[in-house]
Amino acid sequence: MKLIQYQNLTEKKLAEYFLKYENKSSYSSIIWESMKYTTLLKAKRLRAAMCLEVASVFNKDIENVFPIAASAEIMHAYSLIHDDLPGMDNDDLRRGKPTNHKVFGEAIAILAGDALISFGAQLLIDECSYNISKNTVLDIVRDYLVCAGANGLIAGQTADISAEGERTNVEKLNYIHKYKTACLFEYSMTSSAKAIGLKDEIIGKLREYANNFGILFQIYDDIIDCTKTTLEIGKTAGKDKLNNKMTYVSAYGIDEAKNIFYKLIKKNHGILIELNIKSDLFNEIEDMLITRINN
Ligand code: IPE
Ligand code: IPE
Ligand code: MG
Ligand code: MG
Ligand code: MG
Repeated sequence: MKLIQYQNLTEKKLAEYFLKYENKSSYSSIIWESMKYTTLLKAKRLRAAMCLEVASVFNKDIENVFPIAASAEIMHAYSLIHDDLPGMDNDDLRRGKPTNHKVFGEAIAILAGDALISFGAQLLIDECSYNISKNTVLDIVRDYLVCAGANGLIAGQTADISAEGERTNVEKLNYIHKYKTACLFEYSMTSSAKAIGLKDEIIGKLREYANNFGILFQIYDDIIDCTKTTLEIGKTAGKDKLNNKMTYVSAYGIDEAKNIFYKLIKKNHGILIELNIKSDLFNEIEDMLITRINN
């Protein structure tokens, strides 16, 4: 139930930020329409929820980290728009609707992705400065930019594209999952932790949790790509095989991929115990993923 609350809050906040910052000129309004289209479609909002939950479990006001939660969802939307482009995964369906380039054309979709990256950074600078120290904001913006770029998500996407059709290489597979997916979860959780002033030792543990979660989440995504229908996942089912992707399923098969997923879940239970954190949200997300890979 907590996830729905966080989803509603995140979607409300994102809509507010767009309204506040969008450029209304008719010459360029299409770019904001395109940015809003993918960002505001119904989605799980896991990255925002996990950012907000870090503040919540440490008894801090979640309002302080709204801009960070929003920036994570904005970076995520950019990654999805570009991931779906014909030159990348070439997908027609995203979040149950036609992909961004199908609606707005390729040129606008490319520009919308670019614009979302910089919009997320601007939001952090403009909206965090009310309640977070300048030094911390600088640190968070740096983390945001590293995550969005060629030492983060783009490193993962580059390896993902170059691995198409290659023979399985477990080291490369782990690299892909760590960078294309886990680094954004790391950003969401550790930036929230920095914003509320947690100690480095705790931040390090949360980083480990987020990294494990990101990898198990991408394994979940690889599994449902070949076990669920297009209607159920809101994106084209079976696409990984069609694109000859190197995934946990192609490398290990479904059963072993599930075993690795469960091992990471267990590792994360250990981290939460070490941190003495009890989180309904983390349990809820875990249950949701387990149900979906088994039904
Ligand atoms: C899809 O992420 C891309 C991956 C990293 C696997 P989500 O499954 O979180 O997508 P939305 O945000 O709910 O649409
Ligand atoms: C997701 O990888 C990684 C991103 C950075 C978007 P996928 O290519 O598997 O994501 P989906 O399945 O298209 O959502
Ligand atoms: Mg991809
Ligand atoms: Mg894809
Ligand atoms: Mg996928």
